[in-house]
Formats: sequence, C-alpha cells, structure tokens
Amino acid sequence: MSNKLLKIEDLELSFKMYEGLSYVLKKINLELHKGEKVALVGESGSGKSVTTKLILGLLNQKNVTKKGKIIFNDKNILNLSQKEFKKIRGNNISIIFQDPIAALNPVFKIKDQFYEVNLNNKPMSKKESFFIASKALEKVSIRDPERVLESYPFQLSGGLAQRVVITMAMINKPELLLADEPSTALDVTIQNQALDLMHDLTQETNTAVLLITHNMGVVRKFAEKVYVIFRGVIVEEGTKDQVFKNPGHPYTKALLNSIPKLTNNQLPKFDEDSPDYAAIAKYTHR
Ligand SMILES: Nc1ncnc2c1ncn2[C@@H]1O[C@H](COP(=O)(O)OP(=O)(O)OP(=O)(O)O)[C@@H](O)[C@H]1O
Ligand SMILES: [Mg+2]
Repeated sequence: MSNKLLKIEDLELSFKMYEGLSYVLKKINLELHKGEKVALVGESGSGKSVTTKLILGLLNQKNVTKKGKIIFNDKNILNLSQKEFKKIRGNNISIIFQDPIAALNPVFKIKDQFYEVNLNNKPMSKKESFFIASKALEKVSIRDPERVLESYPFQLSGGLAQRVVITMAMINKPELLLADEPSTALDVTIQNQALDLMHDLTQETNTAVLLITHNMGVVRKFAEKVYVIFRGVIVEEGTKDQVFKNPGHPYTKALLNSIPKLTNNQLPKFDEDSPDYAAIAKYTHR
C-alpha cells in the first residue's frame, strides 16, 4: 500500500475581482505521507489559508478559478461535489482554525457541536455522543468534561477552548489534520500545550498534519518537513534540518533570522526599496 496521503499538483487559484483577475496560487506542489508532520510557512497573504480551504472544498464561489490536482488517497478531490466533501470533512480531513473561540459556533453548546461531528462518522443518539465526547475530553485531562459539554463557547477560557477544538477535530481519527495557525491567539504557555496535545493525539492515530504558521519556533518544535510559500509560490521545501541549516531562499533566511524576535509572532516586514526585497522578488516569478 502506498504511503502517500496527499499530493497537491500544480495547484492554481485565482479570484475574479472587480479590478481584474487576482492570481493567488501559482502552481503549488506539495506532498504529505501518512502520519507525516509538515509545516507550511509564509507571510500574511501568501496563500496558506486558501490552500487549506481548497483541500476542504471550501472555495466554491462563482469568482473562483482553480486548476491542478489535490490527490487525497489516490483520488483527485479538487472538484468534488459539496455532498462528497461533507463526508470527508471532520471525518477523513479535519481542520483547526486560528482562533479557538471563533472556531466554535457561539450559539450551540459544546455537546451539540460534538454531536454534529460524531454524526459525521456514524449515526448515534445524543446520549451516546455525549458519552463519547466526555471520554475524549477526559482523556486530554479536562477535569470536568460534563460541565464543559454543557457550556457555550464564550464560557470557556482560550486554553480550554483550544483543547476542546483539538479534541473535536481528532475525535473521528482523521487521516489528515489541517492546523491553520492553531496557536497565535494564545499566550506562549498555552500555545505550547496546544502543540503538545496536537502532537500526542496525532501520533496516537498516525494522523498527518499540515501545520500553517509564520512562527519558525513552532516549526522547529513540531514539523518534520517544511514548505515555504511566498506570494502563492512554493519557494523552498525540505526536511526541517535542511531548511534550518541551509535555507536557500532569502525569505526563509529572513524568517529564520526573525525567530528570536518573534515574541508576538510578528513577521519580518519588507521595505520594497530594500536589497532584501529585491533579492526575494527575483526568486518569485510574478
Ligand atoms: N474570497 C476571496 N476573494 C478574493 N481574494 C481572496 C479571498 N480569499 C483570500 N483572498 C486573497 O488571497 C490571498 C491569500 O490569502 P490567504 O488567506 O490564503 O493568506 P494567508 O497566507 O493565510 O495569510 P495570513 O497569514 O494573514 O492568514 C490574499 O491576498 C487574500 O487577500
Ligand atoms: Mg491565513
């Protein structure tokens, strides 16, 4: 059996805007093996989130043009129907969004949100779902799972909400977890705990992770392989060691140089007149 889980081939994305076409992804190629932890790093607006949205079938507006392939388990899913994507989402592929409180639906109790995800896996009663969710929360050291399940998202602290979101994303043992900046909204300790939890749960189920971040410190802690995206182009890829020891692209070097300064997850900013900017622009075909 092949060890390949996800293969993105020459993926292109553009939006038709009032002002004309906006090319957002330009022939992206990316690969994940089963159980592999991969980071996708890049500055704001470089195309990280839209890549995850395409993997989940969430970009279907009329003004979207997409080309290339997203092969998941040997099947091109780029143009699947919403009905087919619904079976995959939360089941084979899960996502954790940037802000845990915002990721949860504010008007439903946590138990109802678990119910929806559990139903995606198999038909069950609310009682059965409550039991499964409660066991799962207990396993991740949440002391009072029943109280948490009876809460609304706003009643949870950021750290607790993050644990709930991760547990929910992992409850159906997905083959792929997309983690879109799962930690930036949190303080450093909670951020580390969230990463540790994600690491432990995904190891247990051999779930591959595509971790999206601008924080090279997070990459160093979590990832085995790294892709660097700059303005819709993958400008660098390699094992973590290769990329950290021998970065080829100026943008990667800038990211690495910024690690000690990244206390607020701030990105390096480029002055368009600087030599750095010229060097980077030379590498990216616009
Ligand atoms: N629905 C949309 N319509 C038009 N343009 C869009 C849409 N969604 C995203 N874009 C544009 O696509 C580009 C990539 O956006 P994306 O959200 O993937 O960035 P990102 O790398 O995730 O950035 P950040 O680090 O800030 O989250 C941006 O220029 C953004 O403005
Ligand atoms: Mg984003």
